[in-house]
Amino acid sequence: MKIDLLSPASFAGGQPHGQFDWLRENAPVRWHEEPGGAGFWAVTRHADVWAVDRDFQTYSSEPTIMITDPLADAGSFGPYKMMLMMDPPEHTGFRKLIRSEFTEPASRLRSERIHALAKQIVDAVIRRGECDFVNEVAGEMPSFVIAELMGLPLEDGRELYKLTETIHTAPETLPPGAGGQAVMKMFEYGGKVIAEKRARPRDDLASKLLACEVDGRKLEDMEFLLFFLLLVDAGGDTTRNLLSGGLLALMENPDQYAWLMSDFEARLPTAREELLRWTSPVIYMRRTAKRDAELAGAKIKAGDKVVMYFGAANRDPGVFDRPDVLDLSRAENPHIAFGTGPHGCLGQHIARIEIDAMLREVLTRMTGFELAAPVEWLPSNFISGPKAMPVRFRAG
Ligand code: HEM
Repeated sequence: MKIDLLSPASFAGGQPHGQFDWLRENAPVRWHEEPGGAGFWAVTRHADVWAVDRDFQTYSSEPTIMITDPLADAGSFGPYKMMLMMDPPEHTGFRKLIRSEFTEPASRLRSERIHALAKQIVDAVIRRGECDFVNEVAGEMPSFVIAELMGLPLEDGRELYKLTETIHTAPETLPPGAGGQAVMKMFEYGGKVIAEKRARPRDDLASKLLACEVDGRKLEDMEFLLFFLLLVDAGGDTTRNLLSGGLLALMENPDQYAWLMSDFEARLPTAREELLRWTSPVIYMRRTAKRDAELAGAKIKAGDKVVMYFGAANRDPGVFDRPDVLDLSRAENPHIAFGTGPHGCLGQHIARIEIDAMLREVLTRMTGFELAAPVEWLPSNFISGPKAMPVRFRAG
């Protein structure tokens, strides 16, 4: 079996489950060559992904979590790092600054507003009978939610989200330097947010971050900008891809779609978790070994890159019964679409509220979905999902 987990071509039709299946079965921790780079270990079994993600003492998130890092294009951040690329205890201190905004009860307080946004998004397209589901429906929700969290105009959330998409796109499919430029534009915008929120602080996450202290001092501008980039980045195309990949999965599995709709509210919780397992919008996170280690028989050396494939772990037959079947009633579903360990997705409670609100509005108010053109997938080996998905539908 030809294994290539780098080429965007491998991801042109969704995640390469054929390759993942072969790897899990034959070489669950396998060395992968990297043209122009050092190479990396590809980890595909659920238990190994779980173990690597939790063992931050052996597998570090520094210096970066991408195999090749587009942020490096943007120039040096000097001593500054994004929280996603820190290890405990430094990471713990930074995560604590925003943790309280993302707890389950804090997220629930946003529920009503998120439902109102979902209604507004569907209102905007429902009479048209046709739309690009990715950009006009699914992408709107995370853009709006992040804008509201940060206290920004909703329209700006859309623009920031477009920059995120560029950052996550395989650099070889973009004009040279485009990833770095997108990061710089994000920083330029973040600089304006700093000025505005310092002058007129409000009850929003951006103002709170600028006011809070880490190690007895205020955040420096660059520290704020990296937080800003992380939050815009992490909550954007992940949630979008779950929604559009989820709708695609329902269209491709009409029996499951019908099962969900025949008792929607009661069946939504297991359906949502199964769609998370099925789509696994984050393809991988990378770690770097801090010391020699052994994983599933592979001899990992200090300094080696170790890459956890969440989509592969989420189809592990050792953990999931009939993993290649979409089963919206799946009761036992220990998927790791949100990761685990110290970096486990901070936004997962908000993400679940966004997903539920959108699925409810879309599936109970729109019907008869069919593709109006073939799905175009994101050319990315990091984030998985449709880039464009023109659909026809009826109101009803
Ligand atoms: C379906 C939607 C989402 C998926 C699949 C997802 C997935 C992930 C994954 C896999 C990680 C890395 C976990 C690890 O390394 O173990 C992560 C981290 C993170 N996510 Fe999400 N995410 C989603 C939505 C969101 C949303 C809506 C937000 C915020 C509004 C968010 C904020 C974050 C943050 C801040 C981190 C970094 C946490 C840290 O470094 O401590 N995510 N997410």
